[in-house]
Parts: sequence; C-alpha cells; structure tokens
Amino acid sequence: MALIGVFDSGVGGLSILDEALRQLPDHDYLYFADSANAPYGEKTSEWIAARSLHICQFLVESGCQAIVVACNTATAEAIRDIRAALQHIPIIGVEPGIKPAAMQSQNGVVGVLATEATLKSDKFNSLLSTLPGDCRFVKQAGAGLVPLIESGQLHNPKTAALLAKHLEPIQAAGADTLVLGCTHYPFLAPLIRTIMGDTVQLVDTSQAVVRQLARQLAEHQLTKSRQSKRSLRLLSTANGAQLHRMAMQLLRADASQRLIDTHTIDLDLITR
Ligand code: DGL
Repeated sequence: MALIGVFDSGVGGLSILDEALRQLPDHDYLYFADSANAPYGEKTSEWIAARSLHICQFLVESGCQAIVVACNTATAEAIRDIRAALQHIPIIGVEPGIKPAAMQSQNGVVGVLATEATLKSDKFNSLLSTLPGDCRFVKQAGAGLVPLIESGQLHNPKTAALLAKHLEPIQAAGADTLVLGCTHYPFLAPLIRTIMGDTVQLVDTSQAVVRQLARQLAEHQLTKSRQSKRSLRLLSTANGAQLHRMAMQLLRADASQRLIDTHTIDLDLITR
C-alpha cells in the first residue's frame, strides 16, 4: 500500500478521490483542498505553477508516495515543474477528455466546459492541435461555478441559471457531447442533464486518471497489501469541517471503514 496525495484547488478533486477509493481501496489517502485560494482558474499561470509546486512538496514531506494533481488547471500550468522537482515519485495529472469526446461524438460537435486558465493554457491548446480537424470544439469558461460548488450549492436556482448561461453557446452549436474539463464539474452532472437533456454524453476522465495511477503504483512497486485500518486524511486551507461535510456529501465510495481525520491548515505558516 501507499499513501497517495490527491490535490485540488478545492473540493473538485473529490471526484477523482471517489474513483480512487473505488478502484484502489487498499491505499491510504491524503486529500488536500486549497479552498482558501479557489478558484485557481482565474489566477495567473505563474501563481498557479508556484502554488501547486509548493503544495506537492508539502505532500511529499507529509509522506505521500504518489500524487494525483486532481485539477485540470494545476495540471495545465504546473505539472511539468512538479515532475521536474519531484522526480522520485509518480505524479499523475488530469486533462480535459477532448480526445475520447471527439471519438464518442456522433455529430462532431463537442462542448468543452473548463476554467479560463485551462482553456488558455499551452498544454490544452497543444493537445487540441493534435486532434483531427473533423470535430468542432465549442469552448466555454465556467466562470463563477467553482465558488458555488465549493459552498455546496449544487442544485439551487442560482447555480442552475449560471450553468444554463454557460451551456447556451454549446447547446446552440448542437453539441451532442460535453467535456467536463474541471474536476469540480462532475458534481453538476445532474443539473447539466436537466439543462441539456439526458442524451448528452458527459466526458469525465476520472476513471482513466485512476487507471493511470494504478499503472504507476504497480511500476513503482507500491501495491503490497497491509493489515491495518486504512486512512483518509482531509486537509483544507480554508475550513476543514466544511471539507469534511462536502466529502461526506459527495463521496459515493464507501469510506466508512477508514480512519478519517480532518484539519484546517495554513500552508504559509508551515516552515519548510
Ligand atoms: N478543479 C479545478 C480544475 O479541475 C480548478 C477549479 C478552479 O479552482 O478554478 O480545473
């Protein structure tokens, strides 16, 4: 077993943690939510890169043997620097699933809902440029959605109205497939289906990300089983109790048998 760090700007990475708890239940997890600084998607590339690296260094110092950067924005802006600085452990990132979406779409029109930083990033745009030109991508930044999700407003009229506004150009273009290019957005799936209808295909890469994590753990021989009770540590830079509540609300995987401990931490006060 290994201690796996899962990091996001906030609660979005719980969508990846959920899948990891299902596919890889025999590991310990440390979930880090930088909710005091969410949303990342509206910050500069330099800030996102420096902050993400700082957090990953903290996760390694806390004993993590593998890290999932469970944030499309941080992956786009920081994964290269993180991998360069922490070469001895597997670092798994998450990217908008535009390739599988292009393959799944029947009519060749795909919506991409992601943060502004992700859509503007070189990493995303070079991925886009590798795809054949027969698919049209309608890109839309989901400004304002992350704070609503962070505060647990997943079903209320305000969230529905903002989401409907962001989805309008995607619907107007006739997209039959929508890429959820931010790890917060899978939690809006029921609302998205209400707005776009049940036939829209939603593409979320969490299963593929966790399969990649499993491969990397095997390669690094971090798969041995163990006896003791498994743990789930929840750390938030804003409010540990709120993260705990959100985790209990959003995780569908069974975490009831784990030792769960929750803390609010101020990363800037931790001397390194
Ligand atoms: N959950 C993140 C992502 O996947 C970031 C959202 C944000 O903080 O803007 O992009």
